[in-house]
Amino acid sequence: MDGVKKHYYSIERGVVKAVDGIDLEIGESEIFGIVGLSGAGKTTLSRILYGLTEPSNGNIEVKLGENWIDMTQKGPFGRGRVIPYLGILHQEYSLYPHRNVLGNLTEAISLELPAEFAKMKAIYVLKAVGFDEEYANSLLTKYPDELSGGERHRVALAQVLIKEPNIIILDEPTGTMDPITRVQVTDSIQRARDELNQTFVIISHDMDFVLDVCDRAALMRGGKILKIGDPVEIVEDLTPKEKEKMLTEE
Ligand SMILES: Nc1ncnc2c1ncn2[C@@H]1O[C@H](COP(=O)(O)OP(=O)(O)O)[C@@H](O)[C@H]1O
Ligand SMILES: [Mg+2]
Repeated sequence: MDGVKKHYYSIERGVVKAVDGIDLEIGESEIFGIVGLSGAGKTTLSRILYGLTEPSNGNIEVKLGENWIDMTQKGPFGRGRVIPYLGILHQEYSLYPHRNVLGNLTEAISLELPAEFAKMKAIYVLKAVGFDEEYANSLLTKYPDELSGGERHRVALAQVLIKEPNIIILDEPTGTMDPITRVQVTDSIQRARDELNQTFVIISHDMDFVLDVCDRAALMRGGKILKIGDPVEIVEDLTPKEKEKMLTEE
């Protein structure tokens, strides 16, 4: 993407430069982090990348096979061609409250899968997000309101992964995860990249997670990218306030 901007206008705040001139290139099968404090513009940038928010300016292209597709162009010849290959876990994700976990996962693939196969796939992705096999089995018939917040979040992540998208955008995936689950999700992401060549864009203020999982990261402040590099190099540039909010240990 280059020159990407998103400006909002509001009566109280005037012009809000949520995203303010971003040039960014993310490689195939890269695990790329976008880090910054709350309000830096990360969610807006991820929504623009997915085509959910129209940028005020700039170009975004995604490579599909041999072609580059213009994501700012709506419809089946524009970003509609790419959307089936993209997956996104929203910061404010939701599950279908009236479907059990199996229903939530298999609806997401909406394929005419034989029941046994659908169930196998569901168990497979539940294991990928850190549940053991026995527990994953017991989860299938539970409804979202019977799960803890952290469990729901992992089911939502599984719902994205079961579609096997080529590019996966995760907005604050570790917010509700305990440290052990976080390690399991780190392993799953790296395994998915190695085995399925998936590309991950991970939006996070959890610098420890980004250090563990990402190949490169971009530091955002006030809608701009200040630095792109090895996550370890990003840590060096954090302000004391960013360190306090984004790192648990220094
Ligand atoms: N729909 C919107 N209308 C007005 N302002 C918005 C909107 N979405 C985001 N913003 C503003 O843009 C800035 C960046 O927000 P966001 O992208 O959510 O940041 P982050 O995800 O890094 O916390 C914030 O100041 C936020 O209030
Ligand atoms: Mg956000």
